[in-house]
Amino acid sequence: MRRALLLIMLFSLGACQKQTSSNCSPQDHSLSAKFNFKVGTVAEPFQLQANSPYLELVISQFNALSPENVMKANAIHPQEGVFDWYPSDQLVDFANDQNMRMHGHTLIWHQQLPEWISNFEGTKEEWRQVLKIHIQTIVARYKGRVAAWDVVNEAFTEDGNLRNSVWFQHLGAAYLRLAFEYAHEADPDALLFYNDYNLAQNPLKRNAAIRFCSDLKKAGVPIHGIGCQFHVSIDFPSHREMDACMRAVCEADFLLHISELDIALNPLSRSMPVPSEEDLQKQANLYYWIFKNYRRLPEAYQYGITLWGIGDADSWIPYFFNRDDYPLLFDENYQAKAAYCKLIEDL
Ligand code: XIL
Repeated sequence: MRRALLLIMLFSLGACQKQTSSNCSPQDHSLSAKFNFKVGTVAEPFQLQANSPYLELVISQFNALSPENVMKANAIHPQEGVFDWYPSDQLVDFANDQNMRMHGHTLIWHQQLPEWISNFEGTKEEWRQVLKIHIQTIVARYKGRVAAWDVVNEAFTEDGNLRNSVWFQHLGAAYLRLAFEYAHEADPDALLFYNDYNLAQNPLKRNAAIRFCSDLKKAGVPIHGIGCQFHVSIDFPSHREMDACMRAVCEADFLLHISELDIALNPLSRSMPVPSEEDLQKQANLYYWIFKNYRRLPEAYQYGITLWGIGDADSWIPYFFNRDDYPLLFDENYQAKAAYCKLIEDL
């Protein structure tokens, strides 16, 4: 009798578990539909064409889109006077057709620069022209179709100083102000963002970036928001640090974009051929915590949260850092992970 009862209990537990996993099938849910703010992802045009599970998830789960690489200078402006529009046009058309908010990433950065810019020799005035033409040609082409731009990406170093990028070397700190002004001239309706990483775990860098943006804003420079990338991990930064970062941006009166969210399981680069259940659960809890806390911020500052990829196999982290990792909401077969289920079921 007892045994039978136990069997019934185990059976119903199994049924419950089954129920739970089918309760969060992405076919029946939309992540973005759960929130008043936009939930975005990055996408690459070739994936949208060649990979139907990827395409389905982009369309069903998200209502905003950022390009992962195709709008970076080396891709879109490979030679002086030569712009390669095809891939970014495809992405912008796709986002517009799907009614997704298109977020441009990124106009001015020290990485993924074409050689002609890295090696450009010219006077200060000529460098200013390079900056202006690069920004204004791109922003003008997508005027009214790209809602917002990461105008400057990663301008600060960990010690809170401005990075010694080619832009800084040739134009000094003024390149930031110029970049925002040029972008605004080309599309006065676009929202303009400063975007950076480690703003949660490094208060020195965070304070420097926010102070710099606030000073620009006070001087009348059109800068509307700050993107905190949030390439975080299950071990760090702490909740307190992430919360401080979110609040600091809002308190400084900037829109807050969590702009490149992923949660690494393996920041110390151990061998990890498969993720453990325990780590996946920690990851789920942290995704949940980030979305929940973001939702509690004053609504006027909630520009949105953008995930930096769809399935774990698409993530930049294993390639870029040469390690095993599983940082996204869907696994390598585009099946929902615990993190996706927790967002759908518990929020
Ligand atoms: C990454 C892309 O995801 C990779 O495909 C590429 O090889 C390198 O850049 N901060 C940023 C993003 O602002 O543009 C970076 O994207 C990740 C870190």
